[in-house]
Amino acid sequence: MICLDPDTLAALRHKNVSSSLIGEMAPEILGGTLVSLDGSAHRRARDGIKEAFLPKGLTAAGIGDLFAPIIRARVQAWRERGGVSILPETGDLMLKLTFYLMGIPPQDLPVWHRKYRQLLQLIVAPPVDLPGTPLRRGRAARDWIDAQSRQFIRDARARSTRTGLINDMVSAFDCSEDALSDDVLVANVRLLLLAGHETTASTMAWMVIELARQPDLWHALVEEARHAGTVPTQHEHLAQFPVAEALFRETLRLHPASSLVPRRTTRELHLGGRHLPAGTRLGIPLLHFSTSSLLHDAPDQFRIERWLGRVEPVGPLDMLQFGTGPHVCIGYHLVWLELVQFAVALALTMQKTGVKPQLLNDAEKGRRFFPTAQPSMKVRIGFS
Ligand code: HEM
Repeated sequence: MICLDPDTLAALRHKNVSSSLIGEMAPEILGGTLVSLDGSAHRRARDGIKEAFLPKGLTAAGIGDLFAPIIRARVQAWRERGGVSILPETGDLMLKLTFYLMGIPPQDLPVWHRKYRQLLQLIVAPPVDLPGTPLRRGRAARDWIDAQSRQFIRDARARSTRTGLINDMVSAFDCSEDALSDDVLVANVRLLLLAGHETTASTMAWMVIELARQPDLWHALVEEARHAGTVPTQHEHLAQFPVAEALFRETLRLHPASSLVPRRTTRELHLGGRHLPAGTRLGIPLLHFSTSSLLHDAPDQFRIERWLGRVEPVGPLDMLQFGTGPHVCIGYHLVWLELVQFAVALALTMQKTGVKPQLLNDAEKGRRFFPTAQPSMKVRIGFS
């Protein structure tokens, strides 16, 4: 695989650069999902669900109101425990939020949790197709999740009382001009479970690590949160939280959760000063865009000031960690809301008893960069 230079961002928008490689890298779980499709097939699959993820769709579904108490309860539990291994905790919180987002009833969460963990095994399972192997267990979990999603879709059509994004996606999907089979929707529900979990959990964990490393940043966040006094629940509230938003954006810039996006050329191309024959595998390095001095002053320094007091709106270059072009992250507005909610809830909860996050071991040790970039599972944060 060739890793292209930072100035080859255009590859993500190029009509002769395909996303099918993603499906081939993880065929058992990502094959047929919209992230691995190109052109009109991709557009049709994406159009079926994208409205639900825009601020209007998220507000209509009451997602911010649903998330706020769950996040507050979790950070309160952290305060009572006095310290946590941060990534396992944010991973667990994100999984819960993702399941709630889908409208999975609370009593079903333990079994979904178990099936989801088994599903993840499909990413690394050796190709041994025998009873009891990770491959068999992973496939069984995938089939179980798909069957549940199919039932959710049927329930949504029957206008049962189930709530959540699946309802909205089904309505949008059924209203779309081109009739698509339910298989597309089922595959994309599975993609949503996978795409939003580790990426957001990792960013959340880095946010806490950065707050623990920088007392001034923590104090600025606490001041802002106390002034507002409440966790925001809609995008229109977010303007009251410039520090929390800058924390989210700067954390993601320095610690992009998706460090490398795979693609393949479909025709002979000249990109990034290289000649690339048709069929060349590409790795588009989002990590390098984040740390490029062509795009940012002092790129290695964590500076929320880059985001504060800006007059120009956030543009594609400011959110490169979510990709760009037709495959730009569908979850961007959701992540923006939930990570600001998280930062504000953390500050409000901890300041009540005057405690703040403290880094208890080396956050650089054991960090990984692929398939998602994450701090080590062993990084501990104390609250004292
Ligand atoms: C900090 C959190 C996140 C980051 C950094 C992130 C990053 C990305 C990136 C870089 C892509 C582009 C992939 C490509 O071009 O091939 C992407 C696509 C996608 N993301 Fe996210 N993501 C995050 C959270 C979420 C969430 C919460 C969801 C939904 C619940 C989500 C759903 C998707 C979907 C469905 C796609 C595929 C879009 C398409 O192919 O048209 N992501 N994300």
